[in-house]
Amino acid sequence: VATCDIVPEASAEIATMAAELNTTQYGEAGEISQHEDYKSLLARPEVEAVLLSLPIHLNYQIMLDSVLAGKHVICEKPIGANLNQARKVVATVSEIAENRDLVVEIAENYHYRQEVNEAKKWAFEEKAIGEVVMIWAKSIFRQDPTKGFASTPWRVDNQYRGGIVADGGVHYGALMRRLGGEVEQIQAFGKMMHPTATSSLDTLSINIRFRNGIIGSLQYSGAIAGPTGDLAECRIYGTHGTITLNPGHARLFNREGEVGDVLEQRHFEATNTSYYEEFLNFYEAVRQGKPVVATLQEAFRDFQIIMAAFDSAEESSVIFL
Ligand SMILES: NC(=O)c1ccc[n+]([C@@H]2O[C@H](COP(=O)([O-])OP(=O)(O)OC[C@H]3O[C@@H](n4cnc5c(N)ncnc54)[C@H](O)[C@@H]3O)[C@@H](O)[C@H]2O)c1
Repeated sequence: VATCDIVPEASAEIATMAAELNTTQYGEAGEISQHEDYKSLLARPEVEAVLLSLPIHLNYQIMLDSVLAGKHVICEKPIGANLNQARKVVATVSEIAENRDLVVEIAENYHYRQEVNEAKKWAFEEKAIGEVVMIWAKSIFRQDPTKGFASTPWRVDNQYRGGIVADGGVHYGALMRRLGGEVEQIQAFGKMMHPTATSSLDTLSINIRFRNGIIGSLQYSGAIAGPTGDLAECRIYGTHGTITLNPGHARLFNREGEVGDVLEQRHFEATNTSYYEEFLNFYEAVRQGKPVVATLQEAFRDFQIIMAAFDSAEESSVIFL
């Protein structure tokens, strides 16, 4: 029913998409108001819920103004521009939302990845790989400095801590927690290699100790040209087998002596189903009162892992969460 962007062409583009969608769904485009000031959108009574997809440093203020205006909110990750702000989001936005019976979800699609949830079931419910010892994940890719992510002005001259790693790496904070549970200790080393995203470490090697004693390792880089397939790869190692995870695939291996046999494979249509699932969760939370999976509290703890990794790399220390 309404779109907003400080760039009117961007707002108009979304309005066109919304009109097409409305026509497909309801047989008519309906009236879609276009705004340049988000406060005028928030003042519209026909707006029940807002999707916030903004430069990261604006998430806190606009989330806050949205719940104050009585709107349900689904907001892109990460939850804030730094840990203090993220704490304020959890304290203030949650309280206002609870008092006004509003749903707030962080659009962290990794909490909705089917292959991740399948792997978790194999490892921890079915105990298919014995005792879980170690969880390893990596996402290595080179952000093109001339287009997309690494050229977005608000990313180049960023007003939030952690640059590319806070932006993209936070998904892996979510992945590690989803698989291993809460984290107790973090230790990291970092490098600053990217030609445009220069205000922050862009490559981190992070060691993790989970509260349950599982150890973990996460390598994230937005600056290294890794081979195809190095994006979003993950393994769960157990005393009697391994689970491998790639976008859309989960494989379960047992290991007797030298040979690992694939016991089971699951293919999910696409990782993009996780975006569908995150929106479905939001819809069902608003319409049917279902619990939100990616709550503000969850998103805070995902982000905390990445911020602790920066603290560790900058201070050469082990950080206890
Ligand atoms: N979950 C994922 O896989 C995923 C992928 C990409 C981006 N994201 C997240 O989405 C968010 C947006 O990223 P993007 O790449 O789409 O950025 P983008 O720059 O393409 O889009 C942000 C838009 O916000 C507009 N904007 C800026 N200030 C505004 C204001 N005050 N009021 C209204 N509009 C304003 C900009 O004009 C721009 O059109 C970020 O939080 C990012 O982390 C998530």
